Amino acid sequence: MTILGIETSCDETSAAVLRDGKLLSNATALQLFHSEHGGVVPELASRAHQRLIIPVVAEALAKAGVHKRDLDGVAAVYGPGLVGALLVGLTFGKSLALALGKPFIGVDHMEAHISSNLLQEERPEFPFLTLTVSGGHTQLVVARDPFTYEVLGRTRDDAAGEAFDKVAKLLGIGYPGGPLIDKLATKGNPKAVNFPRPYLEDDPYSFSFSGIKTSMRYHLKKIGFDPGGANEPQLIADLCASFQAAVVDVLVAKLLKAAEDLAIRDIAVAGGVSANSELRRRLAMEAKIRHKRLFIPSLEFCTDNGAMVAMVGYEKLKRGIVSSLELTAEPALDLSHNA
Ligand code: KG4
Ligand code: ZN
Repeated sequence: MTILGIETSCDETSAAVLRDGKLLSNATALQLFHSEHGGVVPELASRAHQRLIIPVVAEALAKAGVHKRDLDGVAAVYGPGLVGALLVGLTFGKSLALALGKPFIGVDHMEAHISSNLLQEERPEFPFLTLTVSGGHTQLVVARDPFTYEVLGRTRDDAAGEAFDKVAKLLGIGYPGGPLIDKLATKGNPKAVNFPRPYLEDDPYSFSFSGIKTSMRYHLKKIGFDPGGANEPQLIADLCASFQAAVVDVLVAKLLKAAEDLAIRDIAVAGGVSANSELRRRLAMEAKIRHKRLFIPSLEFCTDNGAMVAMVGYEKLKRGIVSSLELTAEPALDLSHNA
């Protein structure tokens, strides 16, 4: 069974070909021009997807050595995400399926992130616990079985990736903030500034990151920091390391608490922030100590990609689950309503 997966929910245009659960290709075009605007501009993202979707799909098919008539189904993300961006991949996917006379499968972007851990040889066993941390979401989710998810908690305000991006903006280091902070933090002292760790004892599976960001803002004001000025590289590195340490402490503590409380052995991370080197290092260490099996996608499959979409499409089509061509974009699609 050969599936094409298409992802256009935010600012990455990506397509992948999967055959019988094995990935044959994954092609991604990044929209780096958003960095000039300090964040993703929805209208520009949508136009770029329109420009990129045909070459990206062609590249995925060519890399896989698959002709479009050999496809058994086409899967595309329909939510959550930016509506104009979602519509490009979704409409393209539905049209291609219709033209080929093959089934179409609509995919939840967050379900796809969780399924990115099923792309590797060693896969978590159900039920497993996933921390999904991206630019738009921070959720603790129990994957009970394929397509049954229980959302234990989510962020009350900023998503973890959003906090990275906003703090990078405060520091004047560019966009997207996550990978830049990650890199600069390697040279910094994580104990230089003691930013708050919002553990929310009364609500242990929920998250809140806006306080850390506000605390950074006050700290910068106190030290008279000018984001456009000629700042000491060590000062920036220390601020990045201290901020990152606070976010990682909270993410790691909550994921492990939930795993202990629910007595779940297999734990996974997914979404753009799972690319963070300090998060990966700390989780690997803590999981070992607590005898948990840890699953983290390889870097290519942490951020948005077509492969994770093709994986959900494959699992669904295998079970005869297909979507109507009437399916439309759902920018606020919620994982707990999925199934
Ligand atoms: O999953 P993703 O590609 O798109 C969304 O669905 O949001 O995640 C993008 C987010 C951005 O906020 C970006 O700053 C963050 O993931 N990110 C990172 C790292 N790489 C990407 N955050 C921390 N450390 C990283 N290495
Ligand atoms: Zn994502």
